[in-house]
Parts: sequence; C-alpha cells; structure tokens
Amino acid sequence: MQLEQVSKVAVIGAGSMGAGIAQVCSQAGFQVSMRDVEPRFVEAGFRRIRDPLAKRVERGKMTQSELDAVLARIKGTVDLKDAVRGAQVVIEAIFEKMEVKRELFGELDAVAPPDVVFASNTSSLSVTEIASATKRADRVVGMHFFNPAPVMKLVEVIRGSETSDATTAFAKGLAIRLGKEPVEVKESPGFVVNRLLVPMMNEAFNLLMEGVATAGDIDKAMKLGTNMPMGPFELADYTGLDIGLDVMEVLHRETGDPKFRPSPLLRKYVRAGRLGRKSGRGVYDYAGTA
Ligand code: 3HC
Repeated sequence: MQLEQVSKVAVIGAGSMGAGIAQVCSQAGFQVSMRDVEPRFVEAGFRRIRDPLAKRVERGKMTQSELDAVLARIKGTVDLKDAVRGAQVVIEAIFEKMEVKRELFGELDAVAPPDVVFASNTSSLSVTEIASATKRADRVVGMHFFNPAPVMKLVEVIRGSETSDATTAFAKGLAIRLGKEPVEVKESPGFVVNRLLVPMMNEAFNLLMEGVATAGDIDKAMKLGTNMPMGPFELADYTGLDIGLDVMEVLHRETGDPKFRPSPLLRKYVRAGRLGRKSGRGVYDYAGTA
C-alpha cells in the first residue's frame, strides 16, 4: 500500500485512544470509520471528539464549520465489515488483552483486502504475536499514539519480527501525514516511552505506600522538579490505573525482572475499581467533576 492511495482509515475502538486517533485522521482530511461493539460506545466516542473541540470553538481557536467538518468525515458503526469497507489502513485501539486483539485481527484479516495495512495502537503487547493471527504479518505494524492523541506529537512505530520495510516506512509516512513525529522502535516490552514512564509512575505508588510523601507532594515534586506537565498520579488518573497496571504486568512477565514488579498499592486501587478519572476516583477523587 502506498501512502498516496490512502483516502479512508478505519479505527477500531471508540475509547479515549480510538476516538482521539479517529479525530486526528479526520483532521488530516481522511474519511474515517470509527467502530465499537455497541452504539453507546460509538456515541461516547463522538462525545470525546466533540466536547474538547467545542471548547476550542468557544475560545475562538477553531470555527464551528471546521468542527462540523471534522465530525462529518467520521462515520460511526458497530459493523466491522462496514468499518473496513473502502479503507486502506486499519488502526486498532481496543483494550489491551492479547486474546481479544488476536481474535479481532483474525476477523479483520477475513474481511479486509490483502493489501490493507493493519496498525495496532498497543501500548506494550507484542506486535509479532498480534500479527500472527493474520496471514499478512508483513503488513502489520504498531502505531502507538499518546493520550490525548490529538495533542501529543509522538507516534512510536513498532516493527514486529515480520513487519516489512515497506510497511514500516508506510506507518512512519502516515504518522507524518497525521501531523505527528514518528520514532521507529524494535519490538520490546513497553517499547521506549512506557518502559521508562510507567515504571516511574509505578514507583510513585511505592513511595506513597511507604509513606515517604503525600500524593499531592509527590506530584508537586515531579512537576516543579522536572517540569512534567502532570505529576505521576495526575497522569496515572488521566491515562487509567488499569492501563498502567497492564503495562507493568507485561514488563514484569516478559522480562522476568523484579524491578518491574507492579506496586501492591497500584494493584489494590485497580482491584477496588479506583481506575482514575474515568471511574470517578483513582489516587484522587473526581466526584462532582465532569
Ligand atoms: N482535541 C484537540 N485539541 C485539544 C484536545 C483534544 N481532544 N484536548 C486538548 N486540546 C488542546 C486545547 O484546546 C489546548 O489548545 P490551545 O493551546 O490551542 O488552547 C491545548 O490542547 C492544551 O489543552 P488544555 O489547555 O485544555 O490543557 P493543558 O494545557 O492543561 O494540557 C495536557 C493538557 C496536554 C493533557 C497536558 O497536561 C499534558 O501534556 N499532560 C501529559 C500527557 C502525557 O504525558 N500523555 C502521555 C501519557 S502516556 C500514554 O498515553 C501511553 C499509554 O500507552 C499509557
């Protein structure tokens, strides 16, 4: 597949990453389908796109007609076949469970023409293993976007063991076409960013568990001491504690290295349903906030 041939992108998953990626693709001028398994998830995806853009319209950063055009290029669906019809690229952004991703990629392989490129937004799983559920492993690649996808500039482009040079070049070109900066990464647990970032967040939970400082002071220290825009707990609440725990579990399992042991406090919060902003409570309480 050549980049110039791309006119439609199918995004599978309408959660915060899926919706953000669909928005980015639409803003770059592509036709987009955004698929999730139930209409209410698709609708929630549209809200995730509309609400922050409506704020930009209110602040005079974009016009209502630009917002309308972004939304008009995105078609929501629950039908996988419908989603991939006419698309030259599929970007998968469903949740981080290998069995579920493999099942989806098997289904995608059956409905998409053989030259369609499949990209996974996996944050730490093996692209090689995902690709092996298809008969086109050379055309499967990782494209790891960062939350919030419309704002964050980086895309990690991950080569699985069978990913071809052409597919890697295509993914890097697509990232640039989407206004992002690609960094090529060989397959390795957590890739680059999550291998560095998530253990730092995990260690913040250990500090809190040991009573070294309060959550607010740990966040304050990292923001004022390293210029992070959010402290580790604000970021964990923003991206989801369950996502952080998933990444730690992959790092720990794949490397066997005890330095990647998930913090017991992080695990406890996830077990309690304290997943961050999305559940109303994580390290901090969001009751009463939108
Ligand atoms: N669509 C379009 N524009 C958006 C947007 C959206 N969804 N959300 C925010 N924006 C724009 C705003 O309109 C604003 O634009 P302006 O500068 O032109 O006015 C700009 O982005 C900044 O937004 P805000 O003013 O609302 O908010 P902040 O200045 O507080 O920044 C933030 C918010 C960008 C989230 C910042 O706090 C930040 O960078 N945080 C760190 C995020 C981070 O580290 N992400 C990576 C997480 S790790 C990850 O994703 C990997 C995964 O695998 C776990």
